[in-house]
Amino acid sequence: MAAVDAGWIVIGVDNLAAKVDQINRGTSPVEDVSGQQLQSAISNGLYRATTDFSEITKASVVTICVPTPLDDKREPDLSLLRSAATGIAPYVSEKTLVVSESTSYPGTLRDIIIPIVNELKPVDTKNVFFACAPERVNPGDAIWNQKNTPRLVGGIDHESQIRAIAFYNSICDAVVAVSNPEIAEAAKLLENTFRLVNIALINEFTQICSANGINVNEVIKAAASKPYGFMQFTPGVGVGGHCIPVDPLYLTWWARQNGGEATFVESADRINHEMPKYVAERALRMVDGSIVNPKVLILGVAYKPGVGDVRETPVTELRNYLQDRGAIVAWHDPMVPMWEETNPVDLDWGCDVAILATNQPRLDFSRLIANGVQILDCTNSITRQSGVSSI
Ligand SMILES: NC(=O)c1ccc[n+]([C@@H]2O[C@H](COP(=O)([O-])OP(=O)(O)OC[C@H]3O[C@@H](n4cnc5c(N)ncnc54)[C@H](O)[C@@H]3O)[C@@H](O)[C@H]2O)c1
Repeated sequence: MAAVDAGWIVIGVDNLAAKVDQINRGTSPVEDVSGQQLQSAISNGLYRATTDFSEITKASVVTICVPTPLDDKREPDLSLLRSAATGIAPYVSEKTLVVSESTSYPGTLRDIIIPIVNELKPVDTKNVFFACAPERVNPGDAIWNQKNTPRLVGGIDHESQIRAIAFYNSICDAVVAVSNPEIAEAAKLLENTFRLVNIALINEFTQICSANGINVNEVIKAAASKPYGFMQFTPGVGVGGHCIPVDPLYLTWWARQNGGEATFVESADRINHEMPKYVAERALRMVDGSIVNPKVLILGVAYKPGVGDVRETPVTELRNYLQDRGAIVAWHDPMVPMWEETNPVDLDWGCDVAILATNQPRLDFSRLIANGVQILDCTNSITRQSGVSSI
């Protein structure tokens, strides 16, 4: 949609037919893109989706934005990226610019995407241009978007760089040119790892404060009064979404390829994954010990407030841990209609303790407080109410 707004005619190629149909019917699968915006782009002939990769022959710029998840060994899974490059290659033509926006470790464009495209491209296609411009999106953010967020661009050679800068200059207010694709790829990993380790730091610090009877939220607020050298992070159930818990493991994997070790990052990952257990134990301590199977209501299952996205949500580990400890667990989230094939309950579901995991808009926890339900607040949203503890 950012490219449409900039005057480009855009074709979205996706191998999921259901998603393509949904988009072409004018229903947006992306929360930050309204149906109205999508419908207007479609009806003006500026956007359409297809499963047909041969449509790529019409494009002068091809951006790859497929998921880059982890495999079952928690290592980079580039199968979708490889399959996208394989799908694109036969349809690139002379002077097509191929840009990778997917997050991956440094060297992915040069060592994986380019060889696939060059091997499978039409024989009469001599010049293909390549660049890396990692996607920077913060879902649910009302201020920062594709247009006003500066974009890193690293071309594989001088001509690729000039073309990629021109393309992103047409979409974004500011382009930051870097020397090569690997700098852009590494910068993306640094950005997200920075968040992971700072969240881990504050999660660890929270446990230390709690054990010593100190209110961590007041400490954070106090420290944040320093106008320089401090950036505020807040504790929670863990980290979620398909970026912050995933991308840093691309970094740890990349480190191992050169015989190195990202011990600091691995430690942060471990600390964050221990948080659901810590939260569960704190909540269970709030329940009368004579109850063998306490009923626990989890409030908010999306990975962050304001979105309905449950990918990699740390609430899964929280629920599993509670169930392993014998609890009967239900959940409520105004932005999530269904989660892991279970339906939500309403706020009247009688529980022994509630855990506020994600403070979603329209989540009316005041009813629980009025009914005297004990709440463990992991979001620092409820202050000075009896029956409410914060982590
Ligand atoms: N969404 C974000 O907030 C965000 C932010 C920054 C970076 N990123 C990065 O952007 C990339 C994409 O993430 P996303 O959240 O947009 O993914 P997504 O899951 O929302 O969408 C990706 C789409 O790619 C399609 N797809 C998968 N394999 C394909 C293939 N071989 N050919 C064609 N289509 C294919 C899927 O069907 C899906 O519709 C990831 O590398 C992610 O790390 C995402």
